[in-house]
Amino acid sequence: MQPLIAGNWKMHGLAAQLSEIDAIAATVIARPPAADVLICVPATLLFRAAQTAAGRMAIGGEDCSAEVCGAFTGDFSAAMLKDAGATAVIVGHSERRKHHGETDAMVAAKAKAASRSGLSAIVCIGETEAQHRAGNTLAVCGEQIKGSLPADLARSGTAIAYEPLWAIGSGHVPTHDQIAEVHQHIRKCLMELAACAGAEMRILYGGSVTGDNAHGILALENVDGVLIGGASLHAVDFDAVLRALPDRLDRGSLPTQL
Ligand code: PGA
Repeated sequence: MQPLIAGNWKMHGLAAQLSEIDAIAATVIARPPAADVLICVPATLLFRAAQTAAGRMAIGGEDCSAEVCGAFTGDFSAAMLKDAGATAVIVGHSERRKHHGETDAMVAAKAKAASRSGLSAIVCIGETEAQHRAGNTLAVCGEQIKGSLPADLARSGTAIAYEPLWAIGSGHVPTHDQIAEVHQHIRKCLMELAACAGAEMRILYGGSVTGDNAHGILALENVDGVLIGGASLHAVDFDAVLRALPDRLDRGSLPTQL
């Protein structure tokens, strides 16, 4: 499975930071990684980021409405993100779940809306520190998968991002054994839900990924990519993650298929 290296800019980025998009895209062309590359940016930057990337890598959104259109002031639909140049969207990030009260059912509806509009959804799951300490990680992630994935999973091009909340922005990364155990469990849950489609879905790891730890994480079984917050904001840091991958042998095909 071709890995996916995805960035999540969160609420960072003005027009001045589009030069980082350009620099990342230039690296992708100069040294094609053995991975698909995606940067998810705030909605205000989507159009300009997609123009800047100019097909050299993929650009995505960070959230979308579950609704198609209507009286939802301040929201934007998956079709609007696509119209602005996105090919993918993150849904159910823990920061949306925490600050906006998003439930598994809401996340599933958003993932469904994304796939209906032709966007690949990256559905985020992950346990809190308390759940981790209580030994409930696998149970929590299993429940989140069941509740947060759209019913038409087999057709949706959806990926899962496992992001333990205690690892996000903290510099604390689970051990390789812990990541491998959770990803194996996620794969099992996906296959129970969607058989072959579950076997083929990408499972990303996210939480304090940097150029220093990416190589070991990406080498783990059932880790099909990474979702990167802080280290995606600057091309120099993001390039360090890309360099953790082996060079792409076929330099002819660009990693923009999501
Ligand atoms: P981080 O964020 O890489 O800064 O820990 C990851 C995320 O929240 O997606």
